[in-house]
Amino acid sequence: MKKILLSEEEVPKQWYNILPDLPKPLSPPINPATKEPVKPEDLMVLFSKECIIQEVSQERWINIPDEVREAYMLWRPTPLYRATGLEKALGTPAKIYYKYEGVSPPGSHKPNTAVAQAYYAMKDGVERLTTETGAGQWGSALAFGCMVFGLKTTIYMVKVSYNQKPYRRMLMELWGAEVYPSPSTNTESGRRILKENPENPGSLGIAISEAIEDAVTHKNVKYSLGSVLNHVLLHQTVVGLEAKKQLRLVDDYPDLVVGCIGGGSSFSGLFWPFYYDKVSGRAPKDVQFLAVEPTACPSITKGFYTYDHGDTARLTPMLKMYTLGHMFIPAPIHAGGLRYHGKAPTICLLSKEGIVKTIAYNQVDVFSAANQFVRTEGIVPAPEPSHAIKAVIDEALKCKRTGEEKTILFLLCGHGHFDMQAFDDYLNKRLPSYEYPEEKVREAMRKLKELYPWLEIER
Ligand SMILES: Cc1ncc(COP(=O)(O)O)c(C=O)c1O
Repeated sequence: MKKILLSEEEVPKQWYNILPDLPKPLSPPINPATKEPVKPEDLMVLFSKECIIQEVSQERWINIPDEVREAYMLWRPTPLYRATGLEKALGTPAKIYYKYEGVSPPGSHKPNTAVAQAYYAMKDGVERLTTETGAGQWGSALAFGCMVFGLKTTIYMVKVSYNQKPYRRMLMELWGAEVYPSPSTNTESGRRILKENPENPGSLGIAISEAIEDAVTHKNVKYSLGSVLNHVLLHQTVVGLEAKKQLRLVDDYPDLVVGCIGGGSSFSGLFWPFYYDKVSGRAPKDVQFLAVEPTACPSITKGFYTYDHGDTARLTPMLKMYTLGHMFIPAPIHAGGLRYHGKAPTICLLSKEGIVKTIAYNQVDVFSAANQFVRTEGIVPAPEPSHAIKAVIDEALKCKRTGEEKTILFLLCGHGHFDMQAFDDYLNKRLPSYEYPEEKVREAMRKLKELYPWLEIER
């Protein structure tokens, strides 16, 4: 069977929350001025009430509101494919499945949380949501979610992408959002950065600072985040819950679950429900989890495990995570997405405990894998999930050598229709290989320690 489908009634009715099932309690976000955990009330200026409740909830299952399920039905359940073309080309005994989230209106998994966050904001009487976006995937998902529930949206888009990738901006504007290139003159933090360097190309860290400042300095405006935090990740579990049902239909179960990580939301959405099977003794196999990041932004494979801010201007609380330092500016030659300096605290804890393995690939190998996928499966993957494709191909070739008939499941979390420039650069050999230098990570950690001498920084 090529394509395994579910009916609309099978859109999950609950999200899965990993917090009660973690091997250790998650270290809470802290306020660096007091070193004390941030209280849920302190987050009220930023997020809607229900999102804050979910952020710290110890409930394993959280009901999905009917209105959100209805919005999901526009594109969910998403298809699960068997990668028969790729398997044949590789000559592998492995069975490869991919869950495809590119069928959503913005073309990725991101609206799974965007519609939920827009719904809860609407319930709280919020009029406008602000956010940051890199290449525009998250921004377009939030613009879409806010359109569904009648909210305004303001999006701070990293300037280099704003200039290079006009089509995502147009998509956001089509759904009614206003989009600013970040750093912008709209906020105090943007103006400060532009005064230092008018040519600053921007980064996600800077855009987050601007979106937060805009939200906290205006009435009836809240901020929305597309990854990293617990409530965002749990909204994504519809992906893994559906995939589990779909695999059951073909009487299969994964030995290995693979996904790319930027902040960690798409991969968490896929693997958490299988992790739940594993820790609750329900998994028929000893399923393994593999996260893939770029060598240009190797937060887990080269970063340090410590408390750090989520943004450049240090407006956010500090989160315990693997980080390259909040001053991280990605290499402008990096085409692969996944450019955030930190990762979700939950993924970082599971990595530290050895439950999630992480691997990094450079962009040339990643685009080469994407090219092989296009020519065997036909679907054009986004650069982000192409990292997962590279890892899956390597694993399938390993199976070819050992004869193992592993079942591999990966997340194709978005299509690459807006990423043609990167594919053109790859085809015309203009895409250089890039590795973020170890020395830069050590320097960032030295600066972090200067700011906060009490920090414990470990690998
Ligand atoms: C298609 C796609 N996949 C993955 C990511 C990485 O984010 P996350 O790790 O939260 O899924 C992004 C981020 O914008 C994205 O657009």
